[in-house]
Amino acid sequence: MDTAHRSFPILVALFVLLFGVTSSQPYEEFLQCLEFHDSNITSIVYTRANSSFSSLLESSIRNPRFDTSATPKPLLIFTPRQISHIQSAIRCSRAHRIQIRVRSGGHDYEGLSYSTISPSLTFLVLDLRNLRAIQVDVPSKTAWAQAGATLGELYYRIAEKSSTLAFPSGICPTVGLGGQISGGGWGTLLRKYGLAADNVLDTRVIDAEGRILDRASMGEDMFWAIRGGGGNTFGIVIAWKIKLVPVPASVTACTVTRTLEQNATEIVHRWQYVVDKLSNDVFFMVVLNRVVNPIQANATTIQASFNSLYLGSIEGLILMMEAKFPDLGLRRENCVEMSWAKSILYFAGFPLNSPLESLLDRTISATGSAKFKGKSDYVKEPIPISGFEGIWEKLKEVGVQTGGLILASYGGKMSEIPESSIPFPHRAGNIYQVEEVAFWVEDGVEAADGYLNWLRGLYEYMTPYVSKNPREAYANYRDLDIGRNGGGGEGDYRRARSWGSSYYKNNFDRLVRVKTAVDPANFFRNEQSIPPLSSWR
Ligand code: FDA
Repeated sequence: MDTAHRSFPILVALFVLLFGVTSSQPYEEFLQCLEFHDSNITSIVYTRANSSFSSLLESSIRNPRFDTSATPKPLLIFTPRQISHIQSAIRCSRAHRIQIRVRSGGHDYEGLSYSTISPSLTFLVLDLRNLRAIQVDVPSKTAWAQAGATLGELYYRIAEKSSTLAFPSGICPTVGLGGQISGGGWGTLLRKYGLAADNVLDTRVIDAEGRILDRASMGEDMFWAIRGGGGNTFGIVIAWKIKLVPVPASVTACTVTRTLEQNATEIVHRWQYVVDKLSNDVFFMVVLNRVVNPIQANATTIQASFNSLYLGSIEGLILMMEAKFPDLGLRRENCVEMSWAKSILYFAGFPLNSPLESLLDRTISATGSAKFKGKSDYVKEPIPISGFEGIWEKLKEVGVQTGGLILASYGGKMSEIPESSIPFPHRAGNIYQVEEVAFWVEDGVEAADGYLNWLRGLYEYMTPYVSKNPREAYANYRDLDIGRNGGGGEGDYRRARSWGSSYYKNNFDRLVRVKTAVDPANFFRNEQSIPPLSSWR
């Protein structure tokens, strides 16, 4: 045998060792491994041959941009019913070098919980939909919620037991607790109580060795990292123990819309000088987009929609606005009093008479069939009038309600929490957070490129008006434009530091240290997970 032939089996062995199974059906060995651990486990595994594979995959794809025939698909979907199933999946994935993407609610902006940018990657989706038990304990004002539960399910279960308790998390009811808290989680209570991740007391996580850890056994460094340092990075979160916060039995939600013809520019400009200094009981969100002109046929205009939540009565809010922000012209008829749980439906755009049970509906999609891309920014100095006029010009470049900006007020509790308290660093000094977003229903690459380019142009335009060095971004509004790991999630510390400091500022290095300590082999990874330091070496 010549040298080339003799070295061939060695090369194959080396390849298998480095890159895993080479068989055309790599899941066969993986399945055998699972069965070895639990003979009943195959009923929760869906291979591509399974007739419900596609519907199961699509049921939690919350951005249809990643639901096309060209989108890389998992080898299989695994829907654990108990914690030992996840431990088996981790052990077998390690043994057979199949990457795991964890999915809770499936709202990842770049689809990384069920897909990848790398068409050759062998991966499985570990979908936590069956792990969504919630136990609310009113006397201690705490709850244990499994990561596969949605925000809506959590809010509903809290409301079932108490009308004066809430949890300060996001607005969209179908967002999953797994991803949301792993990246921060803001909602209408952020000025009063901070983020969801600020209100976590304990957790259950399975690490890369398959061990079940709680706060005490994982230690404070890992407990710090998992509260905002990004999902699919340090372990699989099974459940969060959260602190519930007091709210009045009745709160006030209001909407005021103003078009350019109704002084929208001046009112939004003025809003910036007021909004972070108002009582912590008030939250404001402003949506800026192009709409059909309500007073002129066949014409469009720019509209600012001011949505506010007040932890008190309509009269109380109107008195405060008359004193602090009379330019808005808030009136009684703009407002409705309701329970805090119902205010989530209000902010999520449900009709006023929707039953509270709508919070339990996991099938509702906030963006319908529209594909989207989002980007984020933080504003520390008010944008001048001329800056807003330029934004209006950008909005006029796209169709009605296909592109917009969402401004969410900061200040209050957000300014009191130190930047290093958890990995989420965007605290004092921010007046508001901005989300720049594009929506489209057209299919095809050309249409998508048009909207993506428009959004990138808007983002470029915003540069002089937003945070610098670094240009900060919200990790839960994942944006691969700002940088990424390799397609298979292979990390590089130096490269990751640029997007890592946008998301985490000075907390990035501590996240790398924790990752290096708890998952040095980088088992949990994706295109924007924190890399361990060894991968740089
Ligand atoms: P998904 O399941 O896609 O997970 C997101 C990331 O976390 C992925 O990397 C995933 O692998 C990882 N992950 C998921 N479960 C995990 C687990 N158990 N353990 C470890 N890692 C896990 N944000 C906000 O702060 N406030 C808001 O009001 C909204 N509103 C909103 C509306 C809509 C329509 C969308 C699409 C998104 C938002 N978001 C938001 C952003 C949202 O917080 C962000 O996309 C979350 O990561 C979504 O969490 P899911 O579990 O739904 O996503």
